Amino acid sequence: MTPKTFRIKSFGCQMNVYDGERMAELLAEQGMSAAADGDDADLVVLNTCHIREKAADKAYSDVGRLRREDGSKPLIALAGCVAQAEGAEARKRAPMIDIVVGPQAYHRLPDMVAQTTRGGRPVDIDMPAISKFDALPARRRASPSSFLSVQEGCDKFCTYCVVPYTRGAEISRPWQDVVDEARALVDAGAREIVLLGQNVNAWADGSRGLADLIRALAEYDSLERIRYTTSHPMDMGDDLIAAHGEIAKLMPYLHLPVQSGSNRILKAMNRSHSVESYLRTLEKMRAARPDIALSGDFIVGFPGETEEDFTQTLQIVDEVRYASAYSFKYSPRPGTPAATMEDQISREVMEERLERLHERIGQHQLAFNRSKVGMSTRVLVERKGRHQGQMIGRSPWLQSVHFETSAQPGDIVDVTLVSAGPQSMAGAEAERVAA
Ligand code: SAH
Ligand code: SF4
Ligand code: F3S
Repeated sequence: MTPKTFRIKSFGCQMNVYDGERMAELLAEQGMSAAADGDDADLVVLNTCHIREKAADKAYSDVGRLRREDGSKPLIALAGCVAQAEGAEARKRAPMIDIVVGPQAYHRLPDMVAQTTRGGRPVDIDMPAISKFDALPARRRASPSSFLSVQEGCDKFCTYCVVPYTRGAEISRPWQDVVDEARALVDAGAREIVLLGQNVNAWADGSRGLADLIRALAEYDSLERIRYTTSHPMDMGDDLIAAHGEIAKLMPYLHLPVQSGSNRILKAMNRSHSVESYLRTLEKMRAARPDIALSGDFIVGFPGETEEDFTQTLQIVDEVRYASAYSFKYSPRPGTPAATMEDQISREVMEERLERLHERIGQHQLAFNRSKVGMSTRVLVERKGRHQGQMIGRSPWLQSVHFETSAQPGDIVDVTLVSAGPQSMAGAEAERVAA
């Protein structure tokens, strides 16, 4: 039977969220509609993440949960990075899966659904040279803050990471494609565009780089804000740094993962930057844009990490004074060089280090948020809050701001930041002058 309704669940990074949105647009173009909240869907797409063991396991436990009380089940498509990594093997672990489709093949999802109606159980984990983007429909939907993938894949091969295997080699989408999609998003109501890529700052088309692209997008009148993520320290060029001082619509926020504060560990991770080169980049960034909010990622318990190495990680956190940062326990991934390194760190040690790192990062987050109390700024309203009349939006520094307002998602409102928590700010709307 041809499915009429679908549900897509995306896990993992923002690129997966973007892919999920594109799959929804693709299925809608075929005449299917999104299942209403709480309703059963005929087709369920699990758009999975393989980055850590827990994320990958979640994919399978979610498949199991799709069996209905009467014993029937929806059509199940396993998409995303677990699909890419495991291919047809995924079905050995979860025979309920009907379709396996990788992140570079999902434009063929409608065909694969059609094959299942003829009894097929298709698997497609090709990484074709021709970009899937050409086969996707023009965009019709946008959120106030919309994602736009401009670059995919990774050639860096950090020794712990699966992304080069699940997403393939680094490619940049052509200038014109990106500009056209950005225009479509703005026409559909986007006020902010977040340019995405595993190494987004490596984006290039001929001699043009990310800074040039941002400059071009900043010309769109009703587009108010531009962000980009995730960047690699080695690709943080001077032109992009300078752009932060020159383009008012480019928001003062940079996510630049360092992973560890120890040069010995960075080398073992094959990160191709040192603590010193990373700090120099941040110094230049602060010179260009003094109020920049800095963010990062950390891995604790990489094989061979000593207490001394970990202390250096705490030191770099103190030195950078991150406005926010994410930290993870090292998770050995099959097929990556680090998984077979000697000196794997015990779970207890990892947990204890992660806790200390969390606490340290939390102190800096709170200090950063407190430093903004009393300030008047602009907030892009994104969604309703928990209380009646309350909305949640983002400050330029990407803080979540909760405040009472009659403004709607997509509005940009003048707000005074009145108090700070570790994860969010409370604001008060400035007197609104009727238009
Ligand atoms: N391309 C981006 C992010 C990729 S994945 C970058 O290089 O910054 C997001 C984060 O997951 C990484 O920054 C890293 O901190 C974490 N990560 C990746 N592989 C991991 C692993 N095997 N175990 C624990 N954390 C991992
Ligand atoms: Fe993974 Fe490193 Fe590539 Fe980031 S740069 S995606 S951590 S291999
Ligand atoms: Fe996960 Fe794949 Fe993104 S492994 S983090 S969904 S690139």
